[in-house]
Amino acid sequence: SRTVSRNADGVLTVGGVDVARLAEEFGTPAYFLDEDDFRARVHAWRTAFGPDADVFYAGKAFLSRAVVRWLCEEGLNLDVCSAGELATALAAGMPPERIALHGNNKSDAEIERAVESGVGRIVLDSFQEIARVAHTARRLGRRQRVQIRVTVGVEAHTHEFIATAHEDQKFGLALAGSTSQPEAGGGPAAEAVRRVLALDSLELAGVHSHIGSQIFDTAGFEVAARRVVSLLAQVRDEHGVELPEVDLGGGLGIAYTSDDDPREPQEIAKALGEIVERECEAAGLSVPRISVEPGRAIVGPTTFTLYEVGTIKPLDGLRTYVSVDGGMSDNIRTALYDAEYSVVLASRASDAEPMLVRVVGKHCESGDIVVRDAFLPADLAPGDLIAVPATGAYCRSMASNYNHALRPPVVAVTGGAARVIVRRETEEDLLRLDVG
Ligand code: LLP
Repeated sequence: SRTVSRNADGVLTVGGVDVARLAEEFGTPAYFLDEDDFRARVHAWRTAFGPDADVFYAGKAFLSRAVVRWLCEEGLNLDVCSAGELATALAAGMPPERIALHGNNKSDAEIERAVESGVGRIVLDSFQEIARVAHTARRLGRRQRVQIRVTVGVEAHTHEFIATAHEDQKFGLALAGSTSQPEAGGGPAAEAVRRVLALDSLELAGVHSHIGSQIFDTAGFEVAARRVVSLLAQVRDEHGVELPEVDLGGGLGIAYTSDDDPREPQEIAKALGEIVERECEAAGLSVPRISVEPGRAIVGPTTFTLYEVGTIKPLDGLRTYVSVDGGMSDNIRTALYDAEYSVVLASRASDAEPMLVRVVGKHCESGDIVVRDAFLPADLAPGDLIAVPATGAYCRSMASNYNHALRPPVVAVTGGAARVIVRRETEEDLLRLDVG
């Protein structure tokens, strides 16, 4: 991230504060978030998409009250996918009209809370949900703005668990009909449009597509944009209405290792803008307002996890296992998605030869790997601090209490000062829930 560098002693610093001081004050493991970098990324997305488009930060990547305030200050909107995320957003003062609610199985309570608080959009994910949201809105005397989540049938090049636009999965309503009836007119998405347009308590603002996550190639987004516009044209032909909005989801990949080559927000904005414009022109449609929902690309690179090295176990001719004071409870991504990370010695400089290491956690299973293959200096010793970069997205937000681990704090650092934005859990926190 932007303000991470080394001081004259070779100690890693972020926002002008060195990690030795951070570890002393906040303990390890801990997530350190570069606040200037976060704000700069938000700003870059905001300006890349400009006044005629909307950027919704995907709160599932990492959400806290401070994050919501930064988003508000920088003019971003927010995508939430649960009552918990919605509550955090509202508690921190995000205007409800700038919130979008997602989810493939929203509860009645979640729908009611969203409609009642006046969220700007609910993204409908099934036929049952169309009826449920319409019913709730009618009961509350509201007309709820909605989008329909469409499954465009794109194979995104990413891990199976985070690809979401191929047909055989739980999200959205398929654009195409069955294989025996492949034209879009026979598909569930077109049927969803018919149903929503027939309901007074729903206002159909547009359609939504999210093809997956950690994607580098813009081609998948372009295919999605093209297919979504073809649905808009079909809606115009069938119903005589031009839907004003298209959301193309999140999913832009970030660099976890030097092999990854991420696209910039400007590049994405330009590619999406051009393709939507071109397709609309060809179809004789006015250009809808585009929105996107980046999560990882905004928060991922802003944060590193700092660990203290414990046991070091060299396995002859194989590799050296370096155990740290956290693990799969603060970063499940390596175990779950075979995610790749890098690691650096943070608390000092070293000229020692590199040795092949596997950074592992302290949990009771051998899949508890933080960094599968990496090099660290051969003079690494217990007590050294090591940093794993790019842990801002889907690490704290997917953290668990496995083995009754205490979830680490998130500390925001800027201008030479560090402050806790999510505190470390305590044993009292664990015991408070255990009421037996
Ligand atoms: N919009 C929708 C509807 C989504 O489902 C997601 C992510 C996003 C936006 C944001 O995607 P992003 O820009 O962050 O890639 N836990 C996995 C990622 C799951 C993503 C789920 N949906 C991981 O750690 O890689």
